[in-house]
Amino acid sequence: MVVTTKEFASFLKKKGFVYQSSEIYGGLAGFYDYGHLGTKLKHNFEDVWRKFFLTLNDNFYEIETAQIMHENVFKASGHLENFVDPVVKCSQCDFTERADHLIEDATKKRCEGISPEQLTAIIAKHGLICPQCKAQFQPVTIINMMFPVHAGVGMSQKSFLRPETAQSPYVNFKLQYEILRKKLPLGLAIIGKAFRNEISPRNLTLRQREFTQAELQIFFNPHIINTHPDFDSVKNYTLRTLLVDDRKKGKVVGRTAAELIKHKLPQFYVYHLVKVQQFYLDELQIPPEKFRLYQLDDTEKAFYNKYHFDIEIDLTEYGFTEIGGLHYRTDHDLAGHQHVSKEKMEVLDEDSGKRFIPHVLEISVGVDRSVYALLDVAYTEDTLRGNVVLQLSSKLTPFFCAIFPLVKNKPELVRKAEELYDSIKNCYSCFYDQTSSVGRRYARADEVGVRYCITVDFDSLEDDSVTIRDRDTTKQERIKINDVKNTLFSLYFK
Ligand code: GAP
Repeated sequence: MVVTTKEFASFLKKKGFVYQSSEIYGGLAGFYDYGHLGTKLKHNFEDVWRKFFLTLNDNFYEIETAQIMHENVFKASGHLENFVDPVVKCSQCDFTERADHLIEDATKKRCEGISPEQLTAIIAKHGLICPQCKAQFQPVTIINMMFPVHAGVGMSQKSFLRPETAQSPYVNFKLQYEILRKKLPLGLAIIGKAFRNEISPRNLTLRQREFTQAELQIFFNPHIINTHPDFDSVKNYTLRTLLVDDRKKGKVVGRTAAELIKHKLPQFYVYHLVKVQQFYLDELQIPPEKFRLYQLDDTEKAFYNKYHFDIEIDLTEYGFTEIGGLHYRTDHDLAGHQHVSKEKMEVLDEDSGKRFIPHVLEISVGVDRSVYALLDVAYTEDTLRGNVVLQLSSKLTPFFCAIFPLVKNKPELVRKAEELYDSIKNCYSCFYDQTSSVGRRYARADEVGVRYCITVDFDSLEDDSVTIRDRDTTKQERIKINDVKNTLFSLYFK
């Protein structure tokens, strides 16, 4: 059953996943808080991300860095000049909207990378007027999306909240390269906050002003771009692609990694496209038909990219939505930092004896958007059961298991259930519940995605066994209490 954004938002809030920040003061547009379940889900996602991407190469590492950065970082990266969005304002009232979004909503056509003048012309051509007061719009202008910060007692140190985590690894590159034995490819990852003063924050956590990114910056010698030592292992893997040339047909085309090379994409890039798809399909269990890799053309690509595919997931209310991207940023950032800071970013190519600035391939994932997508895909209204079932996988779901005594007024049952809970709560995310009927408890557990419910009943007192219930099939099996830990272990890694 299709659920509206309003219903979904109300479910996410009621269950403690995510809701607007500062709500008791009326909320603050573009800022969200994760409750106890949302935080667990987000952390589980981050753990899965770390395990997958940081093990792609033994020379990939995670770092943690400051979120407020020197003004010159963004002079060097180009963000001060180029990190802008087109804004359209009503000539009569206070209505303000991102111009490209206004047009996209009205025409259902993407229009990234179009100049303010062209956007103004398109708005006039389609006769778009203010939805609030029906007045004409002013001409489209652009605004920088970064949040300036004035640090220090005299507020004299102009700095910015970083708009992407990426700049932190770039300014850390030279030091880490020296410490980490001067080897390329070198991966530096950050899971952390980014800040953007979005013109029209909307759609829950999909467009916020403060959000979390998981980004891996892979520094490599550009000479190897047409190779990857493991390419053979992925060459027959089929990617779900929508290349620029496929757009007219509008259909995803399955192409093997080897076929994509014929579309002038380098091996090093395609290998990582495969890894991105494997992460979403195999690790997160996003259904293949809801996933696609969308190639951006020259006008749409971010200002720093040579090759750019968006990672997209089909969301109930919004259709295919950008969740992340694979970006070949060349030496754009390191060269910029070398130029502005005067610190040498070059490293030695042992083969040629020449020095060069490493290039960067960036795997960029929006954590909040990925978590939203997981919830969207997992949310199922089960008409037979009469309740929502959140079909999150064992590794992602906030609680893997729950322990119930069948009834709460039988002390021996309660004691046995509590003992079982105490013996497993340090091994698996688990909760104990003895309130209301067991049927109601199963329904509550389904709604927050609990994968297995274990019930201690009257027979347990005789035979030391319990029932274990599978959330997705509702099937119940009887197992010995002594086997619970091992059974959960094999179910977790199934
Ligand atoms: N370092 C590259 C970079 O930041 P981006 O496409 O601007 O690239 C990467 O952002 C991802 O961050 C997006 O694909 C999206 O998932 C997430 N993201 C960007 N802006 C966001 C926002 N306002 N709210 C939530 N997530 C956002």
